Amino acid sequence: MKIAPSFSADSPLVVDGKAAAQKVLSEVRQRVELEGFRPGLAVILVGSDPASAVYVRNKSVQAEACGFLSRQYDLSEETPEEHLLSLITKLNGDPEIHGILVQLPLPRHIDASKVIQAIHPLKDVDGFHYMNVGHLATGSVSDALIPCTPSGALVLIHQVLGNNLSGKHAVIVGRSNIVGKPMASLLLQQNCTVTIVHSHTPDPAAIARQADILIAAVGVPKLITADWIKPGAVVIDVGINRIDSDGKSRLVGDVDYEAALTRAFAVTPVPGGVGPMTIALLMRNTLDAGLRIRRKNAKC
Ligand code: GUN
Repeated sequence: MKIAPSFSADSPLVVDGKAAAQKVLSEVRQRVELEGFRPGLAVILVGSDPASAVYVRNKSVQAEACGFLSRQYDLSEETPEEHLLSLITKLNGDPEIHGILVQLPLPRHIDASKVIQAIHPLKDVDGFHYMNVGHLATGSVSDALIPCTPSGALVLIHQVLGNNLSGKHAVIVGRSNIVGKPMASLLLQQNCTVTIVHSHTPDPAAIARQADILIAAVGVPKLITADWIKPGAVVIDVGINRIDSDGKSRLVGDVDYEAALTRAFAVTPVPGGVGPMTIALLMRNTLDAGLRIRRKNAKC
């Protein structure tokens, strides 16, 4: 087993997402210095879910490390929806803030869709607002803020297969708004043939076995076993699942990693694959959002 970029045909490539993320982050830091501009990121956590708290903290810490203004809002589980919406309205009008992220999932009494749509599309660094979804779905990628996880996964796919993905069959397991659907739009834009399989698909393994690029984003630990994987496929594991094994808690993906190593040309590990890319692409989105807002303000 070898670490990217070196590999041989009989030894699967383990894609090093940490190294790829560092490269993106160092480009972001360089651009911040070059532009002499301080992007501002506001991250909002509602409630005390331990996994969400870790993700949010990592985002805030990384924003500071990139030279951004970083603000974190920790709100209680009982926060009324109107309170969250008025915080977003305030941040929409705050000239120091260029990116707003509300960590999902939200408590049940809050309408997540209403919250997402309240974020100004130019500050929607998650790329979840209808305006950004529409830009991506219609191929106006240069106008869109693109969701960070699929965007990061695409960087890794390019790293393994090069820039030309034309004609590749990509199968995505999972149809979430956060990963599956935007991943499909991005790969279509790359001229891939794209299939999404989900919980209602008869025999998803048979379809997955046709994939040159297999993306697992379903949130079921080790769902993807060897019989889902075409020999020589590139396997991108987006899942991050905490499981108990031998009395210890550990993170596993949606892919049975050991099984994938016996079939695939390249595999992303969990942890250390797509995960670090998500945060790196969030930083890039925040910088891009900031520069776009600055350009628009300069025109007024
Ligand atoms: N929860 C899980 N993934 C994400 C993400 O990419 N963005 C937000 N806001 N919440 C998440």
